[in-house]
Amino acid sequence: MDVIIRPAAPIRGRVRVPGDKSISHRAAIVGALASGVTRVRGFLRADDCLRTLECLRALGVRIEEVEGGLVISGSSGRLTAPARVLYAGNSGTTMRLLSGVLAGQPFTAEIDGDQSLRRRPMDRVADPLRQMGTRIVARNGAYPPLRITGGKLQGIAYELPVASAQVKSAVLLAGLFADGDTEVVEPVATRDHTERMLAAFGVPLRREGSRVRLTPAVPQGRPVEVPGDISSAAFLLAAAAAIEHSELTVEDVGLNPTRIGVLDVLRAMNATVSTELIREGPVEPVGAISVRGGRLHGTTVAGELIPRVIDELPVLCVLAAVAEGRTVIRDAAELRVKESDRISVLARGLRALGAAVVERPDGMEIDGGRLRGGVVDAEGDHRIAMAFAVAGLLAEGPVTVRGAEAVAVSFPGFFETLRALRES
Ligand code: S3P
Repeated sequence: MDVIIRPAAPIRGRVRVPGDKSISHRAAIVGALASGVTRVRGFLRADDCLRTLECLRALGVRIEEVEGGLVISGSSGRLTAPARVLYAGNSGTTMRLLSGVLAGQPFTAEIDGDQSLRRRPMDRVADPLRQMGTRIVARNGAYPPLRITGGKLQGIAYELPVASAQVKSAVLLAGLFADGDTEVVEPVATRDHTERMLAAFGVPLRREGSRVRLTPAVPQGRPVEVPGDISSAAFLLAAAAAIEHSELTVEDVGLNPTRIGVLDVLRAMNATVSTELIREGPVEPVGAISVRGGRLHGTTVAGELIPRVIDELPVLCVLAAVAEGRTVIRDAAELRVKESDRISVLARGLRALGAAVVERPDGMEIDGGRLRGGVVDAEGDHRIAMAFAVAGLLAEGPVTVRGAEAVAVSFPGFFETLRALRES
């Protein structure tokens, strides 16, 4: 599907965005492993999270989709062997987190994905899970499909070689089924939704600096509220930040400190951003984010900040293309193994729209100026589709986004939300 986006007038108003994708996956998975009933409100009904539900159902878990959320009848950790290959679609989170769960089950299961997921490295989860005692066969040693034979697991102490919340989560979820404690050490802090969710479900979990230690337990079912997804909000906030006289508030959005690096970058680019914390918990902090538009300038995004903005880098690169001066993105080689090789797809697309971009192995340099407009391809990647749509709002001429249907992976209704904001 092609969508044509035309230059926008100031964006004003208050909006909500769909539920957080990362938290929705975890609520479903931990609820499925829990004892008793877990009611989830605000669950994200987008392709990725629906893949997780399908897989859990194929593993014998009863999940009802009700108005506003889910009712999960927990399995107390005992899943049943699936009758067919589990299908994770485009969702790396589904495949990696469920690998950790399958590692602890006494049967063999196979999990596969779409063409994009089949290109993404899975050795990063297979290695620690093998150390715990699982048998995993991967295509060419590292790629989906994965054939996982679970069983008796040993707790391990594992230092993550890459900063990845998905790998950390897979190891912690496997740890629920292990003999003895499991410890994970992170080189750089990544999103901590799994730790928060497990602790809220009563699993003994201690955090000390960069270390998380989990004692095996059956989680206890409980209600979960999923806040709006900051990564979805980021597209709207970024657009408002770059259009003078805009004033946008996103309500009911997650404010987890491990996720809000995008606000730091927007501020570093000269945007006026404020947050209002409405409630701290019980699982995740929630509040409102307001942004006022103005002239942006370039900045450097690197180091420990990268995991806190990893999913927002596509839209930040678009802002960099219209900001004054140079923006440097470094230490972000992980972008090459996301839903697409985001460094090369962004560089190609932004150049097609008239930007000056130099691609580096672990990032890029963008000399800001004007975007002319033109035709770009999302290359099957939801966040690239939305980032290029924002480019259309900021460019001098229309931008045609090819493959715009990819937005359904994380933000169904994205284009309708944009339209409503433009008309208000
Ligand atoms: C996610 C973690 C991040 C992020 C992805 C979702 C998660 O990936 O990019 O969109 O839900 O844990 P990595 O942990 O692989 O960096």
